[in-house]
Amino acid sequence: MLRVLMMSGNGTRAFLLLLGTTLLVVYLHQDILSVQEVTKDYSQMKPPTKNNSYVYSWPKCQQNTAAANVAGFGSLPGNTKDFLYYRHCRHFPMLLDLPDKCGGADRSGEVFLLLVIKSSPVNYERREVLRKTWAKERRQDGAWIRRIFISGTTDSGFEKMRLNKLLEMEQREHSDILQWDFSDTFYNLTLKQILFLEWMERNCPNARFLLNGDDDVFANTDNMVEYLQGLKDNDGSKHLFTGHLIIYASPIRWSGSKYYVPVEVHKPNSYPPYCGGGGYLLSGYTALVIYNMSQSIDILPIDDVYMGMCLAKAGLGPSSHMGVKTLGFYIPSSTQDRYDPCYFRELLLVHRFLPAHLYFMWQRIHDPNLKCGMKKAALNNLKVVTGHVNTKRPLGTTLGQ
Ligand SMILES: *[C@@H]1O[C@H](CO)[C@@H](O)[C@H](O)[C@H]1NC(C)=O
Ligand SMILES: *[C@@H]1O[C@H](CO)[C@@H](O)[C@H](O)[C@H]1NC(C)=O
Repeated sequence: MLRVLMMSGNGTRAFLLLLGTTLLVVYLHQDILSVQEVTKDYSQMKPPTKNNSYVYSWPKCQQNTAAANVAGFGSLPGNTKDFLYYRHCRHFPMLLDLPDKCGGADRSGEVFLLLVIKSSPVNYERREVLRKTWAKERRQDGAWIRRIFISGTTDSGFEKMRLNKLLEMEQREHSDILQWDFSDTFYNLTLKQILFLEWMERNCPNARFLLNGDDDVFANTDNMVEYLQGLKDNDGSKHLFTGHLIIYASPIRWSGSKYYVPVEVHKPNSYPPYCGGGGYLLSGYTALVIYNMSQSIDILPIDDVYMGMCLAKAGLGPSSHMGVKTLGFYIPSSTQDRYDPCYFRELLLVHRFLPAHLYFMWQRIHDPNLKCGMKKAALNNLKVVTGHVNTKRPLGTTLGQ
């Protein structure tokens, strides 16, 4: 080495060039290795065993070309066509698994509230803030709270690889992600729910209750535990499905809408009662009933409506909880601060918060010096209303984005 460094200027330059090239080759080689890792052929993989549950082998689901024979197929938008081609696909390889999240299937009854949060790989900031706030894993009033983000993949090529690696890094640090190798689009949310329920039946069948929701909601999980513990004669082994109840809704037939559902996808002109997908609470029992029912119901791309269809088939219904505000909410008066922590201290869930607002609000409602006009209302006041409620959607302020 010393000799090399003492060589003439030309020699040193040649050496540095050689060194540079070597490093570049090593770097490229590593990159190629990781590409191979991501694009490996899952059909060649061994089925899961106790020690090898990381990746499940499922043959790649083939496009159903017969879907194109449906009358009117040609005039459907691209994502609807795509949906119809792959509607039958219910199994995808798992990229990230958490077989011990609930302490194993047998011990999973110790999990009181399982937070199941739909999160796309790109939403790193949202996951980070949730881990520090309402989705913190903890024992709350003696009840275990556990957290799981459910995710697919986004993008393609290097970007997809990078995002998958990011999730892997997060998994190493937090152990809180389930990821399957399907494309994480709005129309694939139902698929994500079904894949989760299948996972739950295998790994966490006795969890008492679940909160199923988006990664941009403010969830007062302290209040949820209080509410769920206060339920008379339901320890999670009976039916519960509650949230922002929507009844008499019907498919949107206008192709410009995000929620467009043409007759080729769903013939009936109505939807069964369901709870808005921003966040709802359900019992472990009901989750497994929904999973069972889903086996014989075609996938509908709107995931919250699909849950309602599964409930209806089982002869069960969703109920309304006044503490869940997934479509904005009324502010008592226009002069009042819309981020008044005294208000949020009383609620169960509010839709659409930016990460910074979430962090701020979670800290504020736990501030021992927080002074509110009225005493914290008993949660019994936020009682569940079953049956018919006013279906008019409140036109309140929607927070966040
Ligand atoms: C759902 O995911 C599958 C697998 O990645 C993909 O082929 C399909 O296009 C996706 N469907 C929609 C409607 O995005
Ligand atoms: C779901 O179906 C399985 C198999 O048919 C059955 O053993 C189980 O009891 C069902 N679970 C619920 C909660 O209905």
